Amino acid sequence: MKEFAGKICFITGGASGAGLGQAKVFGKAGMKVAIADIRQDALDNAVKEMVAYGIKDEDILAVKVDLTNREEFTAAADKVEEVFGGPPHLIILTAGVNSFGPVEASTFDDFDWVMGVCLHHVVNGLLIFVPRMIKAYAHKTEFHVAATSSGGAFMAGSGCGPYTASKAAVNNLIYSYAEALKPYGAGATVLCPGNINSNIGDAEKYRPEHLRNTGYHVSEGTMAHLRSIHAQGIDPVELAEILKEGIENGRIIVMPDRNPEGWAAQLRGFHEVIEDYTLTRAEREAKAARQMEEMQKAFSDDDKEEMSRPPMWEVPEGAEPFGKARKDLDWVDPEKRK
Ligand code: NAI
Repeated sequence: MKEFAGKICFITGGASGAGLGQAKVFGKAGMKVAIADIRQDALDNAVKEMVAYGIKDEDILAVKVDLTNREEFTAAADKVEEVFGGPPHLIILTAGVNSFGPVEASTFDDFDWVMGVCLHHVVNGLLIFVPRMIKAYAHKTEFHVAATSSGGAFMAGSGCGPYTASKAAVNNLIYSYAEALKPYGAGATVLCPGNINSNIGDAEKYRPEHLRNTGYHVSEGTMAHLRSIHAQGIDPVELAEILKEGIENGRIIVMPDRNPEGWAAQLRGFHEVIEDYTLTRAEREAKAARQMEEMQKAFSDDDKEEMSRPPMWEVPEGAEPFGKARKDLDWVDPEKRK
């Protein structure tokens, strides 16, 4: 998709972080932008930020919606058609939440919350919008489907299993849609960022009441720690510019940097880990030992000194390690408990 001006864009999770960056970039490109999010205060603030960024008020629609609820999501899609005069030409399914803890400590609530937002809202978005988009635009004008996944889609997540499982599924779905939409003259793209300067570290604050039985240790301190890490991530507007370039050029996977050689190396690395799962345990351990030895040899004295220094960012007052199990789960390895 190359032409954006005058067209309609629908962005989930558009009130914050990556989604708000996308709203600014595609709004600046001349699109009418609908942002859908569960938090009204964040939506109000996002609209102000978009206007300050130079996007016209009449080109913005903010919709409060729980995207895991299919009736609400369908009503939001109807609202966009009513206000902007047609279905979106571009959907970007970006809303997401995360929670860290040993996967073996996960509860049904942990899976239902994370998979509900990260995977099932993407399914909802595809099923609600794609038929409308095909009917309105196939062979007439360009249209495109995008989702925000994660680098986590390519790896196992023993400390965030529901999240990486949901992202792996999102990637696979988008590959399917990229193939499926070709005959209609449309495309699909999945964005796979690393760390983003966003508010995802605070997601636990608005976890729905009925899904609050977590197996992980969550506190103000763990959220403060996550915030300090995400503060080092890529700027959401820069990330959205990278996504825009990817959509313009028909990329199916977009990695969070502008260097294609860097992407290829990253993807080969992810792939090798999966390939190694087919080795026997003894073969894997021997390979890991060999690699460690080679790495040690390759480190210069400067590298070693650099690695012995504390991390670049400060862990704020009151922060505590995230990724631990709930203390009362006495069957979980004590190292993995609070
Ligand atoms: P964020 O927390 O700043 O934005 C996510 C938005 O989704 C929030 O505004 C939130 O209210 C909304 N949301 C959550 N549940 C919802 C629901 N049920 N219905 C409607 N809206 C809902 O977080 P961020 O980081 O910008 O996340 C965007 C995407 O980027 C997510 O899919 C996330 O998994 C992905 N990602 C984030 C990374 C990071 O380091 N922050 C790294 C890689 C991927």
